Amino acid sequence: MVQRSSCIRNLVQSLWAASFPSKLPYCRGYTSQAASSLTVASQPSACSGDNEYADVDLDKLGFGLTPVDFMCIMRCSKEENFKEGRLTRFGNIEISPSAGVLNYGQGLYEGTKANRTASGRILLFRPEQNATRMKHGAERMCMPSPSIEQFVDAVKEIVFANKRWIPPPGKGSLYVRPLLLGSGPILGLAPAPEYTFLIYASPVHNYFKEGTAPLNLYIDENFVRASPGGAGGVKTITNYAPVLKAIARAKNRGFSDVLYLDALHRKYLKEVSSCNIFIVKGNLISTPAANGTILEGVTRKSIIETARDHGYQVEERPILVDELVDTDEVFCTGTAVGVAPVASITHQNRRIEFKSEGRLVSQELCSTLVGLQTGRIEDTKGWTVEVH
Ligand code: COI
Repeated sequence: MVQRSSCIRNLVQSLWAASFPSKLPYCRGYTSQAASSLTVASQPSACSGDNEYADVDLDKLGFGLTPVDFMCIMRCSKEENFKEGRLTRFGNIEISPSAGVLNYGQGLYEGTKANRTASGRILLFRPEQNATRMKHGAERMCMPSPSIEQFVDAVKEIVFANKRWIPPPGKGSLYVRPLLLGSGPILGLAPAPEYTFLIYASPVHNYFKEGTAPLNLYIDENFVRASPGGAGGVKTITNYAPVLKAIARAKNRGFSDVLYLDALHRKYLKEVSSCNIFIVKGNLISTPAANGTILEGVTRKSIIETARDHGYQVEERPILVDELVDTDEVFCTGTAVGVAPVASITHQNRRIEFKSEGRLVSQELCSTLVGLQTGRIEDTKGWTVEVH
């Protein structure tokens, strides 16, 4: 693994040197062999590139794609395991028109973030959780998956290679998007013969156009996100396009996103298109139980633990939509979304409002989570992984 890592780093250096001969930002932590191949030793000032930022308009940074320098690709056949990773310039990939992912949606994705700390460190947040989730999802989708170590190493490499794109503390994060695709050609409905594990990244800030303002959610009973026995519990790409229409309808009516109910009874809360949901009543925080029909978010899991640490009682249970009228606070969690307070939920033409100003439970938990993610709070849980 170490060998592969240093191999990728050497490749980053040569790609970088070829593209940006005057800037050598990846000299810290390199072996002398790698450094000497770039003659860094004779140009110590080249290390100043370590502190350079890419040219990003931080005030306009939302959740759009800003192409960065490098992406990472690994390929394997259906009988093999993933082996060597390859770092390439960010760009389009070539794929068969008959690829399993294009024809039958055999694909998974993940999302994780890298943050800069005030002291200049780079931290990832629980990337092994994403790796584990991808592994489970791959089993469900009949795909080989990278090992946990391969996944985490590749995420670290992509972050390191693109570190100039990580916004300064408080201005955003580098969102890292691992994909696992059935990239080999297949015509009949069957697992693809070849697989591609690809990671790209983009600097991002707030997910919603509302910025950090509380969300207004809409329950659209015409749509469900997942049903029992389906794949709602794994992060397959096929869970996302079907909600686009529901989101578009809600946005046209001025809402931030859609909250889905269960498919069978249409009376239990499930999740929002882009994130999980929590409700607060006094000291009790509840979130829909994960039973294969909701995505088990890494932020969801971390907030459950953080809330318990803060002395709240937390329950994962079925939550009736009727409970909303007697709820103090509602908030959403997700990697892209973070921890976002909800001001209202509209259901059957009735708008139910929640506390969204003043001292919020969501704000208290968010502050601890972001504190850990950005190094402001000491990580005693081993949740952060430093990239250097
Ligand atoms: C994430 O939070 O990372 C997600 O995958 C949600 C997506 C809709 C942006």
